[in-house]
Amino acid sequence: MPQGPPLEGEPREPEKPIGYWETRLMNSLGRELLLKHWDFPLFESLARKYGISLTDSTILDVGCGSGYTTLLISERFRPRKLQAFDVVPEQVERARTRGVQAEIFVADITDPHLPPRSFDAVFVCGVLHHCPEWRKGLAQTAALLKDGGLLFLEEPGKNHIRLETLLMGHPPAGGAWLGLEEIRQEMPRLGLSTLEERPLYFGLFGAFLCVKKAAEHSVDYISARELLRVRQTGKIAAGQEVPA
Ligand SMILES: C[S@@+](CC[C@H](N)C(=O)[O-])C[C@H]1O[C@@H](n2cnc3c(N)ncnc32)[C@H](O)[C@@H]1O
Repeated sequence: MPQGPPLEGEPREPEKPIGYWETRLMNSLGRELLLKHWDFPLFESLARKYGISLTDSTILDVGCGSGYTTLLISERFRPRKLQAFDVVPEQVERARTRGVQAEIFVADITDPHLPPRSFDAVFVCGVLHHCPEWRKGLAQTAALLKDGGLLFLEEPGKNHIRLETLLMGHPPAGGAWLGLEEIRQEMPRLGLSTLEERPLYFGLFGAFLCVKKAAEHSVDYISARELLRVRQTGKIAAGQEVPA
């Protein structure tokens, strides 16, 4: 729990990425019900709307917590390969006990040690507001996506953070104090184009579906929307098949 500023000369414990009560809430049946009946149906409906199928894809679940998001990704999107990580080892242990067909490990969003451009889709649910270096974390996440790869992201807005601070008596651990506006502004800088943003939990949270465009310096630079069309139709131009 964040305390006041340290007294002069007093060493201070590094702040935990997630606090005691929030961990309990995150690992609760309530959170699972929300994810199952609210967040994931929303992600699925966005995917359907844009004709996206992730069957046979490679997916990463960033900040997987107790692994319930990993389970839902596995059941609802049926990827060929699923990886998930969290910075808290106890959460990784918990996630592993669910028996999901996924590789689950300890890593930090700001330095995940994964090869760039290796995922068709990445899910980030409620992680950035725990991360003081959230811009770096989001940039690292964008770098992990293939061109045309998809980012499914969910974060609380500032009103929720204020409410949580009031109820818990302190701001969420990590204290990033970011809101949806900051995320909106950051996406284009990272080559991410937002296909759609939807309010979640009566607007206290926001859900984003973004697509990564080809690097602007690349010879065959194409826009994010064109890349999405290529994903959907399997054609680059009339009659031409996309190479595997
Ligand atoms: C609010 S919980 C969400 C967990 C899960 N995604 C869900 O939606 O139920 C945020 C998670 O992000 C993890 N986290 C915080 N900072 C992180 C970081 N720098 N890198 C990776 N995970 C982090 C926390 O340990 C926690 O499990």
